[in-house]
Amino acid sequence: MPQVLGIDISTTATKAVLVDETGAVRAIGITEYGFEVPHPLWSEQAPQLWWDATIAAVRQVLASPGVTADEVVAVGLTGQMHGAVLLDAADEVLRPAILWNDQRTSAECELIREVVGRERLIAVTGNDALTGFTAPKLVWVREREPDVWRRIAHVLLPKDYVRLRLTGDHAVDKADGAGTLLFDLARRDWSPEVVAALDIDPRWLPRSWEGPQVTGSLLGAAAEATGLRPGTPVVAGGGDQSANAVGVGVVSPGSMALSLGTSGVVFAATAEPLFEPLGRVHAFCHAVPERWHMMSVMLSAAGSLRWFRDAVAPAASYTDLVEPAGEIPPGSDGLVFLPYLTGERSPHADPLARGAFVGLTLAHDRRHLTRAVLEGVAFGLRDGLDLMLAAGTPRPAQVRVSGGGTASRVWRQILADVLEVEIATVSTSEGAAYGAALLAAVGGGNWYAGVEEACAALVTATPSAEPGTSAALYREAHAIYRDLYPALKPTFDGALAAPGRGSGR
Ligand code: XUL
Repeated sequence: MPQVLGIDISTTATKAVLVDETGAVRAIGITEYGFEVPHPLWSEQAPQLWWDATIAAVRQVLASPGVTADEVVAVGLTGQMHGAVLLDAADEVLRPAILWNDQRTSAECELIREVVGRERLIAVTGNDALTGFTAPKLVWVREREPDVWRRIAHVLLPKDYVRLRLTGDHAVDKADGAGTLLFDLARRDWSPEVVAALDIDPRWLPRSWEGPQVTGSLLGAAAEATGLRPGTPVVAGGGDQSANAVGVGVVSPGSMALSLGTSGVVFAATAEPLFEPLGRVHAFCHAVPERWHMMSVMLSAAGSLRWFRDAVAPAASYTDLVEPAGEIPPGSDGLVFLPYLTGERSPHADPLARGAFVGLTLAHDRRHLTRAVLEGVAFGLRDGLDLMLAAGTPRPAQVRVSGGGTASRVWRQILADVLEVEIATVSTSEGAAYGAALLAAVGGGNWYAGVEEACAALVTATPSAEPGTSAALYREAHAIYRDLYPALKPTFDGALAAPGRGSGR
């Protein structure tokens, strides 16, 4: 039976997922790795790690019982977005890749806003300059590593370095391209204006493709290394967020996804390029042709719950911790939690923001604290949703949830009540890698006429929580939550940001 392979080059592992024509996952291979923090706020990885891990993960898949390379008809790529991979004219890596979670570029973001003009930058790219994006990293290299800068011949995103090793092509998909801050969002291609303003040579930038388009086919050497067939087509794929949305079937305008992993992402598919006037949520191209998306990113979502468990009840299972919180009334008897444990991205792009419990009294016990964490994360996600709705995203009938956090019934109900929308779980569980496999099925395998058809056939959503009677109460609690960040901001920026107080300075 024909199969397609999705490969996800994430920050912590490379995962290969083999999917058959019925949509069933036939085999999975995973190889883990770490990232380097050579200085506070930095985050880097050697691109060779991704290639080695890809070979190992694909080989694990091909070694699974009943799997043969001859059946793999196409490959789709996805991975961590925004990283800067710099290559010379011989495609040799010039320095370690600077990753999406690297925070060194605050000054370069300011510079970009000055040179392009903040309003103009948002109008063209859909986004404000954030430390995570690719363009500020390039400007940092221009300013700080002129020897490297002079030798650059190619700039790639992380998964596209793996593509280069697989097929020999320099290429990027539209979704990852839009995450560089060098894309014209409406035109779905590089912006000559922004590229020129930052002194970037346009010849460094790879050709951009729609997610299901075939960008090349497997080289003999790559076939030998991975065990796949030479000539196997490789499709563009998508950055991890858009590929994950494909994997949960959020591709048509009006559909929305929420992924609750370490970070929390609210993702809306749109028919047109919308953007938030102050750039407080992201606006990128979708991995689906002629579709865009808006997205809010909370940095510590299920990460907040993990922190809380590790700090307060390390021996407890998540179920032991979270189920009793269901006994506490909505609003946690006046206790409010701010989830900014690792700074925040949406709606407050602020690396200095900090977490807080506010409103503690002697009446609160562990159940209240737990519930406040679940609610605080939901309030932060609602902030992102509200900004997207105000920017023109259609109000969804349902939000499709995925990620570890959504396994909890209590948390799903809180999300339905706070977001005031039906929450549905999905039949698929391999996220971005599965989405990349579906893009390969459409463009490389020609199994479906388009991505929407593939998702309609292979992804099922099941409603699992409806907004209940607590919505009004949560609106009041959310208003209190919203007032806390501006009230605490002077403290975050002042004494708490001093050296030695955890700011990384
Ligand atoms: C998206 C983002 C992360 C990274 C790493 O904007 O920064 O999702 O792609 O997964």
